[in-house]
Amino acid sequence: MIKLSNRLKKIAELVDFGASVIDVGTDHGYVPNFLFENKISRDIIATDISKNSLEKSIELTRELGNEKYIRNILANGIVKENRDNIIIAGLGGIQIAEIILNSIEISKVSKKLILQPMQKANILRRELNNMGFEIIDEEIIFEDDRYFEIILARYSGKKESLEEIDFYFSKVLIEKKDKVYLDFLRERKNDIEKILNSFVSDNSRSKNRREELFNLLKKTEEVIDEISS
Ligand SMILES: C[S@@+](CC[C@H](N)C(=O)[O-])C[C@H]1O[C@@H](n2cnc3c(N)ncnc32)[C@H](O)[C@@H]1O
Repeated sequence: MIKLSNRLKKIAELVDFGASVIDVGTDHGYVPNFLFENKISRDIIATDISKNSLEKSIELTRELGNEKYIRNILANGIVKENRDNIIIAGLGGIQIAEIILNSIEISKVSKKLILQPMQKANILRRELNNMGFEIIDEEIIFEDDRYFEIILARYSGKKESLEEIDFYFSKVLIEKKDKVYLDFLRERKNDIEKILNSFVSDNSRSKNRREELFNLLKKTEEVIDEISS
C-alpha cells in the first residue's frame, strides 16, 4: 500500500470519487497509484515532461500491477483528452497557469482543477481569474517546515474585478478562519518585516518595492486580525 506525504494525501482526498483523472507532472506516480489502490479512480492518466521522472511512475505502476487503469504518457502539460479532475501539483504558480492556458478547452470542461503551486500562488489566482476560472475551495498543509497552498478551481466564464494585492490572499481560507492559514500569514508578516528592515537603497525602484511590501504587510495584518477575531 502506498503511503503518501500529508500534502499528496490531501490532494488525493480532493479527487472526486469515480472521476477520470490526469496528474500532470506526476514524477514518481504516487498520486495516480494511490487513487487506484484506494478505489477512488479507475481511469487515470499520469504525465510528465521528463522521461526520467515518468520512468519512476511507469515502474511503480508495473510493480503494483495497475497498468490497466493508469496510462503513463510522456507529455508537456495536459494531454488532449477530457478529464473530470485535473491535478497539477509541485510546480510553480506561473508554470501551472501556463499549462492550463495551453490546454484551455480541456481545462474549461473539467469539473475540478486541483492545483498546488510551490510558489507564486498569487499569480496563479490572478491568472485563473483572468481565464474565467473561479476558486471553489482552498486548503493549506504544513509539512516539512513549510506551507503548501492547494487551490481548487473550475471554469465559470466570470472574471472578478480585483486589486493585485487581493490575489495574495485566500478568500475561502479567511472565511473558514483556518488556523493553519493564520500561522502561514503570521510567518508571512515576519518575513515581510525582515525584508523591510533590511532595505538600504533609496532609488525609485526600491521605493516602489518598499511601498508594495508595506501595503502587503498592512493587508496581512488586517487579515490576521479578521481571522483571529
Ligand atoms: C517537483 S515534481 C512534482 C511531482 C508531484 N506532482 C508532486 O507534487 O510531488 C515536478 C514534476 O513536474 C514535471 N513537469 C515540469 N513541467 C512539466 C510540464 N510542462 N508537463 C508535464 N510535467 C512537467 C517535472 O518533470 C517533475 O517531474
